[in-house]
Amino acid sequence: MSRRAVVLGAAGMLGRLLVPALARAGWEVVGYDIADADVTRAEEIAPRIAAAHPQVVVHAAALTDVDGCERDPDQAYRVNAIGTRNVAAACRDHGAELVYLSTDFVFDGAKRSPYQEDEPVGPLCVYGRSKEWGERFVRELTARHYIVRTQWLFGPGGRNFVDTMRQLFRERDAVRVVTDQIGSPTATRDLAAALVRILEAGGHGTYHASCGGETSWFGLAEAIARQVGYRGRLEPTTAAQWNAPAPRPAYSVLRNYHLELTVGDPCRPWEAAVEEHLRDGAS
Ligand SMILES: NC(=O)c1ccc[n+]([C@@H]2O[C@H](COP(=O)([O-])OP(=O)(O)OC[C@H]3O[C@@H](n4cnc5c(N)ncnc54)[C@H](OP(=O)(O)O)[C@@H]3O)[C@@H](O)[C@H]2O)c1
Repeated sequence: MSRRAVVLGAAGMLGRLLVPALARAGWEVVGYDIADADVTRAEEIAPRIAAAHPQVVVHAAALTDVDGCERDPDQAYRVNAIGTRNVAAACRDHGAELVYLSTDFVFDGAKRSPYQEDEPVGPLCVYGRSKEWGERFVRELTARHYIVRTQWLFGPGGRNFVDTMRQLFRERDAVRVVTDQIGSPTATRDLAAALVRILEAGGHGTYHASCGGETSWFGLAEAIARQVGYRGRLEPTTAAQWNAPAPRPAYSVLRNYHLELTVGDPCRPWEAAVEEHLRDGAS
């Protein structure tokens, strides 16, 4: 029997990689993005999901512009929280399992060791709070769920730090980067592998899925600079000096503990994932 999955946010950075990854793993995949169905409109999303008869819905649609969310909280909550409520209710009504992509920004970043799935959340910014409210809707509305938190994503065809740095290194003699935010850069390819593995195993609950190790934005920029042979200056700065509209956790490394304890963690160390991305996307 063929297994069918719907991917919401199919045109996004994760979605565009996940659709073919699921297909390679034997799933029949239907991808929707905002042009097909707006998750904020329950009357659009429910019939779309019903018509596709999926066993699984992967909800990767979101408003991911963290500072944009801070400037327009209503839209952030509408898409990330209410939109997720609509998707979760539709999954419940149509008997589909739900995979909800969530974020390291649900944590407050006060720790200095990796966060496990069972630790208390405490989001600092609107984006994190809206995604965390989305998590609560998922837990309240459907037991057959996987909440998968990830972080610092990069991959082909999306706005991301790695590609932004590569571009800035072509254009500028000096680039300033924040030193005091620590995370783990994660390739969409590694996340897609983790999602396939989680779905195959079928154990519901909350998961962390990010690449191994940790670094700062500055450390990541240094690694990119080394690989592309940047001859300009990398200048350290702090989050306080940078003064972005949205506060971000100072430390948000995720430990993929649920994966480690069950089916194994397929994610590579971040350095290997970044190196591959820069090599394959070299132009
Ligand atoms: N990127 C990261 O570093 C990161 C880190 C942690 C967690 N995540 C989570 O991982 C998931 C995938 O992230 P991503 O980087 O692939 O995001 P992305 O590239 O921004 O893709 C999200 C997609 O959702 C679409 N969308 C926005 N509003 C919608 C609506 N109302 N209805 C339907 N679709 C809508 C977007 O369209 P538009 O482009 O037109 O807005 C976009 O195609 C998200 O849940 C995100 O919160 C991402």
